Parts: sequence; C-alpha cells; structure tokens
Amino acid sequence: MSQKRRTFMGQILTGGIGLGIGYFVGAKKEKSYPKDSKKNTVSPYKEGLAISTWYHGIAANNAAWGVISSGGNAIDAAEQGARITEADVTGKSVGIGGTPDREGKVTLDACIMDKNGNAGSVSFLQGIKHPVSVARKVMDETPHVMLVGKGALQFAKEKGFEEEDLLTAETRADYKKWLDTSKYDPIINIENHDTIGLITMDKNGDFSGACTTSGLGYKMHGRVGDSPVIGAGLFVDNAVGAATATGLGEAVLKTCGTFLVVELMRQGMTPNDACKEAVNRIADKQNYENFQIGYIAVNKAGDVGAYSIHPGFDYALHKNGKNEMHKVDSLVK
Ligand code: GLY
Repeated sequence: MSQKRRTFMGQILTGGIGLGIGYFVGAKKEKSYPKDSKKNTVSPYKEGLAISTWYHGIAANNAAWGVISSGGNAIDAAEQGARITEADVTGKSVGIGGTPDREGKVTLDACIMDKNGNAGSVSFLQGIKHPVSVARKVMDETPHVMLVGKGALQFAKEKGFEEEDLLTAETRADYKKWLDTSKYDPIINIENHDTIGLITMDKNGDFSGACTTSGLGYKMHGRVGDSPVIGAGLFVDNAVGAATATGLGEAVLKTCGTFLVVELMRQGMTPNDACKEAVNRIADKQNYENFQIGYIAVNKAGDVGAYSIHPGFDYALHKNGKNEMHKVDSLVK
C-alpha cells in the first residue's frame, strides 16, 4: 500500500471512529484531543491535589498530601493514601476488617496506575493487609499487570509481606450472625460497600491513582469486582486525566467505566459531564434501582468532577490548602 493510501485510510478510520463516539455522547466536534499521550503531559496546574471516594478519603488524602507537599511523586502519594484506609480496622469495605465472603474469607482486590501508564493489580488476595502495595510491586517488579489468588499471595510473601488474619472480632461476629440466614442477595443495597479510589496529582502536574477494596460483603467465593481491573475501577492517562469508581463492581466492569470517563474527557468533556455520561451508560442498560455507582474524575487542568446513580455519594478533596467532603449530584434525586 502506498504511503498516500495508508494516510488516507488512516484518516477515514480516525474520522469514522471519532464521529461515532462524538455522535453518541454529544461531544463538541471542534475539540481536538491529544493523540500522543507522551507529548501532551504538561499541566497548567502545579499545586497538586488528592481526591478520593467517601469519608475515609479525608485520612487517605492527608497521607497522600504529606507526600505531595514535600515534593514527592503522585504514585507514592496514591499508595501511601490507600494504605491508610487499608489499615483502618473500622472500615468494613477495605483491607483488614473488610467484610468476608460467603465462606468467611476476606478476599481483597486492588490496583495502582502511574503517569506513564504502568499498572499493577492483585485480586482475590487473602491474608495480606496492604494489597495496594502488593499491586505496586507487581507493577514495579514484574513484567505482568495482574496476579490473583494463591499466586498473588505467593508473590506477596516472596516480597516480604506478612500473612495475617484479616477478620476482626467485629467482622467475625457479623459473619456468624449472617450465617443464621446465609441470605445471599445479589442485589446490593445502596451504600453497601465503600471502596476507596484515590487520584493524586503531584506538583509536576502528573497523575497517579489507586483503588482498593474487600468488595461486596458475603459475595461468592472467588468473586472479583471492578476495583483491581484497569479501566474499570481506575484509569489514568497523564495527558488527559484520571478517574476512579465505587459501588457495584459488576456494573462498572460491564461498561469499562473509568476508561470511558477518561476517554470522554479526552474528547473535551468536563470531569463532571464525563462522570455523568458514564453513569448514564449504566442506567441505559441496567436496572439500577438497587445499586449505587459513584465516579470521581480529574482533568489535566486540575478540575474535578463526580456523579453517582443515587444520592448519598460523596468524596474528599484536598486542594488549595483544604481537605473537605463534597456532596455529589445523582441521577436519582
Ligand atoms: N467496587 C467494588 C466492588 O464491587 O468490589
């Protein structure tokens, strides 16, 4: 094929795809977007920020901010922030003290992603309090992205992580009570589980993110949600922005949720509109009456946005010297 023809075919393909997506989401056609991520990573926003899902995000943001404010990078900030939530025994949806599955096992999912598009992830990991740090090791020290189950545990132990019992007295007692009925209802109550997704932007204007959870309480043994899946629970493109998700993982997985949010921002949508459109994609096809989804997102200018299906979702934002909770607008009023 001649060079001329190749270029022509490339234009048809690019134009066609761009038109299709633009038509669907109503994106403004005149907006151009960075085609080469490596050449478009300079941010006008140099103050740094940390944003994370739910109230536990306040403490996570504080830890992340400790890294950022002392000149540290976004990936260290994301990991350090997520570790705070993982170590909090009172949180029943993340790390130690997380609600177990139907077999009484606490199984953890986590991922991490950096400014260069590197990613690491663990899922169905048992007995390790800090899955986000194991995910970081997968990213930094293996040629892989995901390790699961026994393989993830073996890797963690090889890297010096200690195995421990992740059930607390409280979650053990809750589980015993749950066994009285063993009611497994796949329809999730709103606010049933509160994954932490954390996005960090350092003082170079570079992004990273982390997402970590014990997943849906009393889930089937072996169930994996969206949180460890790159493009579902978390996605970072340093040229465009980053997004993370909380809520019923199955709904996020089926729509490649955070990848979608970032791609919509790439086309020129604000973080808020991108989160809203991603929620609408779920609502278009799924009966959302009994589950919650919340997205948060940041673009390269440091603008933040969020949207959820039901009321009640909020996020913590550390920006401009304040670390505060923000209520989120929702599809259902
Ligand atoms: N979003 C967390 C989960 O569904 O496991």
